[in-house]
Amino acid sequence: MRRAACSNGRSAASETCCVWFDVLDDIQQNLFDGGECGEEVHESLRLTFHDAIAFSPLFPYRPGKIWRWWRRKVFLRSVGNAIYNTSTDGSIMAHTDIELEDHANNGVDEIIDHQRQFPLKHNVSFGDFIQFAGAVGVSNCPGSPRLEFLAGRANTSQPAPSGLVPEPFDSADKIIARFADAGFAPNEIVDLLASHTVAAQDHVDESLKGTPFDSTPGVFDTQFFIETLLKGTAFPGNGSNSGEVESPLAGEFRLQSDFELARDPRTACEWQSFVNNQNLMATNFRAAMSKMAILGQSRADLTDCSEVIPTPKPVSDSPSLPAGKTPADIEAACSSAPFPPLTAAPGPATSVAPVPPS
Ligand code: HEM
Repeated sequence: MRRAACSNGRSAASETCCVWFDVLDDIQQNLFDGGECGEEVHESLRLTFHDAIAFSPLFPYRPGKIWRWWRRKVFLRSVGNAIYNTSTDGSIMAHTDIELEDHANNGVDEIIDHQRQFPLKHNVSFGDFIQFAGAVGVSNCPGSPRLEFLAGRANTSQPAPSGLVPEPFDSADKIIARFADAGFAPNEIVDLLASHTVAAQDHVDESLKGTPFDSTPGVFDTQFFIETLLKGTAFPGNGSNSGEVESPLAGEFRLQSDFELARDPRTACEWQSFVNNQNLMATNFRAAMSKMAILGQSRADLTDCSEVIPTPKPVSDSPSLPAGKTPADIEAACSSAPFPPLTAAPGPATSVAPVPPS
């Protein structure tokens, strides 16, 4: 089949994809500091989730019996009036005045402000751009899979109702129920949470901006899954924040939600299975991201432009217990498989440096 000629001597199976090479060049240079796996990448990856998950097949969503009864009644009456909200539709960028009022979206305003100029300049939809930026961004992190990217989401959206994006202080029950409502099984929550291996917090504890969730926030490795299973010993700050629990390493931040899902019987075995299995983690993350990226969209209406996404570098370190820790520090929680043997990294006890702001 003839390929479409794109800029700078590149080609694509579909002409629709050519514009994405131009977007790629622009964001690698002007959003991701020349192709780094830094703060903008982390924030862009987080944004893919927040634009996607604020979606419920039975829109709007609120807990409670009376509401559920009313919701079903309204739903049955108005299917024809398309009261469904969609997902990955860019509504978080189009309706910042409403969606940024949701407490769970605290902090995404910064990356939205950075990103908005690019879809406007290249005339692509906000929804496409958000998913593209996440896929390109994470490809800058060694060890990441090369994510799928499908283009063609409409540039029209309704604001998503608040209360649909999980919070770090939510119980495992609540998080699992919310994901189930959006179409994800418990294992898939864990698969998506591989994203927290290239992540840090700015807003749970505002006084400790850039505090990472694992010791290697610039690498898409399995350390997040190991370190979240270590016994918590101290808070990196004063510990008075809702959604935070004690972490095992100086300078590391632990979300209560990650702590709970690492130990919950519904998610613990998937969690543990990634501890020393980079390939499994990367493969499952890719599959779950493909699903999330077209939530509420129809795959058949989109064009596969995955060939534009760069191939990530492989990871070079091997999974290990941080220096200063022993197997006795692991709180293994999977009842059907033993925790895999890991050696401790040599040297003095690991402490973790913050992710520098860019
Ligand atoms: C149980 C569900 C989840 C909860 C409760 C949760 C919560 C959080 C919180 C509280 C932060 C810190 C934000 C800040 O203070 O700046 C964060 C960061 C992050 N989250 Fe999640 N998250 C969840 C799932 C996900 C998923 C599914 C993805 C992507 C697929 C994701 C990607 C990220 C990334 C990349 C960051 C780092 C952002 C940065 O470094 O600026 N999260 N998450």
